[in-house]
Amino acid sequence: MKTIGLEIDKTLGTLTRKQIDAFEPKVAKAMKMLHEGTGEGNDFLGWVNLPSSLSDKELNDIENTAARLRKCKAVVVIGIGGSYLGTKAVVEALNNSFDWLQTGKRKNPVLLYAGNNIGEDYLAELCNILKDTKFGIVNISKSGTTTEPAIAFRILRKLLETNIGKKEAKEYIVAITDRSRGALRTLADKEGYKTFVIPDDVGGRYSVLTPVGLLPIAVAGIDIRDLVKGAADMEKATSLQTPFGKNIAAVYAATRNALYAKGKKIEILANFHPKMHYIGEWWKQLYGESEGKNNKGIFPASVDFTTDLHSMGQWIQEGERNIFETVISVEKPDNKKTVPTDKADLDGLNYLAGKRIDEVNKMAELGTQIAHVDGGVPNIKITMPELNAYHIGQLFYFFEKACGISGYLLGVNPFDQPGVEAYKKNMFALLDKPGYEKESKAIRKKLK
Ligand code: PA5
Repeated sequence: MKTIGLEIDKTLGTLTRKQIDAFEPKVAKAMKMLHEGTGEGNDFLGWVNLPSSLSDKELNDIENTAARLRKCKAVVVIGIGGSYLGTKAVVEALNNSFDWLQTGKRKNPVLLYAGNNIGEDYLAELCNILKDTKFGIVNISKSGTTTEPAIAFRILRKLLETNIGKKEAKEYIVAITDRSRGALRTLADKEGYKTFVIPDDVGGRYSVLTPVGLLPIAVAGIDIRDLVKGAADMEKATSLQTPFGKNIAAVYAATRNALYAKGKKIEILANFHPKMHYIGEWWKQLYGESEGKNNKGIFPASVDFTTDLHSMGQWIQEGERNIFETVISVEKPDNKKTVPTDKADLDGLNYLAGKRIDEVNKMAELGTQIAHVDGGVPNIKITMPELNAYHIGQLFYFFEKACGISGYLLGVNPFDQPGVEAYKKNMFALLDKPGYEKESKAIRKKLK
């Protein structure tokens, strides 16, 4: 099976090979910290050997539960951050883009998402569309206390119970949460819902290959074994034994840190495949929460090309030169479509007649790379043979491994996210949550 690849030669105008290779001893140290658990955040390293350690029994349990939920036309995935982005990334990448229009002919339930915002209109519209329907719920929260999914679950659980009765509703609700802690664990145990455990040592943004991602992805009809196999192969390819130059996660981590040291403070992840938008969203959470701390960290941004070449393209070409680009290039499309010939040629497109759409796209990609490199934007390229479950599994693990290494190179703990608590504390104070009396007083004083 072909593997994803990494090309860094288009960063060499800004960097020298020597500057990248100089990271080798630091990378080796970071790799050791990850594999031997000697660095900060070492109680969150369960993802390192996760793909190769998933058992058939666990996968069977996930697939059997998914089969039950697949009896519903719609399944709502409730969760925020790492509790939904991996699923959305895979499902959007692999499902037919227009599947939702194929009413009646659909083979798979439609996945809907809730609990990733606090939009009243969003929830009201979702409830309206699900009125009188038998739908499934996969409620995901590692802490089991996050406000956004908790509100969504309270509303949707009641709706489902109204629609089909409390007893039957239990059959179609699954909770994925901590083994013993949190309100969701208490509720699920009390109500007798089917549950899956998120391992203690796997943080939210590294959890796509636990039931958090695997269950809803299986519900969507995607082969989770291919996804896991891809990740397991990448686990092997980026192991402690792999030499620096052959370890793509190590080289990616070294290159982006070398660029950061040269003042390239923003990394833009670009794709030329419209189905990859949410892979960019997943990646942003992974790198943003892992590295942005202690007043340090590369700012992760993402764009969808060629769409965003007509909006952000100007900034990337000629704005402040503090950026670099990482482009994910999918080598082979799934379908075949060519530009037709037109006798009149009034649109002047006959020079493209007979060409595959992907050929045009690839020239846009190459043209963009040359233009951006010429414009002073170093370019890293990740090649992906095909957009399928196996290669997405590879990509996920590659990015996770590189992120762990990168965080340690930067000198931060890549596995915590203390900054996320600041808005929560203020929100709870403003909402007069019990236990926040002191904070409520203090914040009201500030508002005067
Ligand atoms: O990476 C993380 O840990 C977070 O961003 C979480 O994924 C997010 O906050 C959701 O948390 P929980 O699953 O506890 O509801």
